Amino acid sequence: MQRFLTPSDIGDLKQALKEAAEVKKNPFAHQHLGKNKTIVLIFFNSSLRTRLSTQKAATNLGMNVIVLDINKDGWQLETEFGVVMDGDKPEHIREAVPVIGQYCDIIGVRSFARFENKEEDYSERLLNQFIELSGRPVISMESATRHPLQAFADLFTIEEYRSAQRPKVVLTWAPHPKALPQAVPNSFVEWMKEADVDLTVTHPKGYELAPEFMEGVNVEYDQRKAFEGADFIYAKSWASFSEYGKVLSKDRSWTVDEEKMALTNDAKFMHCLPVRRNMVVSDAVIESSNSIVVQEAANRVVSAQTVLKRMLESL
Ligand code: CP
Repeated sequence: MQRFLTPSDIGDLKQALKEAAEVKKNPFAHQHLGKNKTIVLIFFNSSLRTRLSTQKAATNLGMNVIVLDINKDGWQLETEFGVVMDGDKPEHIREAVPVIGQYCDIIGVRSFARFENKEEDYSERLLNQFIELSGRPVISMESATRHPLQAFADLFTIEEYRSAQRPKVVLTWAPHPKALPQAVPNSFVEWMKEADVDLTVTHPKGYELAPEFMEGVNVEYDQRKAFEGADFIYAKSWASFSEYGKVLSKDRSWTVDEEKMALTNDAKFMHCLPVRRNMVVSDAVIESSNSIVVQEAANRVVSAQTVLKRMLESL
């Protein structure tokens, strides 16, 4: 496996989920794979779960891990081509990335949408430069448009907690004080479309996700109607795609609360975290026994380790 951005990169999903279950059951079984192998994890943005879980996954596989918070500890990188570098960015990405590739066997990159230019964000220019220039397999730790390690962990968690053969899974937009990227909902939809689930997405008008992700997906603008009979409620805030990067609403009538959860089929509550309590979800729901957000976060080690194992096997 040379890159991990989409479900197609991991191939047969049923097989990947089976492998993930084996990884979870016996996390130290493949330590030989990572012996004398190094992963560099590059963070352009903050992280708690991705940083710790990917580091833990690599360590479980016997790898050496180098973490670089590039904005804090590295040189500021110029990413434009053909510019006169007389500003505050002393290093060009076209040198930095091949150099990073010399120090490791696999590279993980976190680089969020900047919300300055939709076309640039959705072209994944920065991530693609790592893929093109590093000479190493690249794993997305959340890029401008996708968060595949999260979505794989989400699907694995749904597999663990499903009671129905084909559960109803509802992705609901939720209010938030800030503009958040579409990476998590994009990937969630992308992975659920490949899984044996009945997916509904609910959001206020104006929050439609990019058409390339939403083709064939059921959208219900009435949140209460969407919640009826749901087995899983997955809450997430995201900024508008059509009015790119804008917060169009902070309407707290969209907050996930006990009254709405009562409409469901005793649904489990999921969120990728971090979450703003009483904006996205009420204290009562996230504290309830139906909330599986911590278990979901724990499965980030499983998704990362399954992907890294595949990459190590193909080195
Ligand atoms: N869910 C997630 O990716 O968390 P972090 O941003 O803390 O890594």
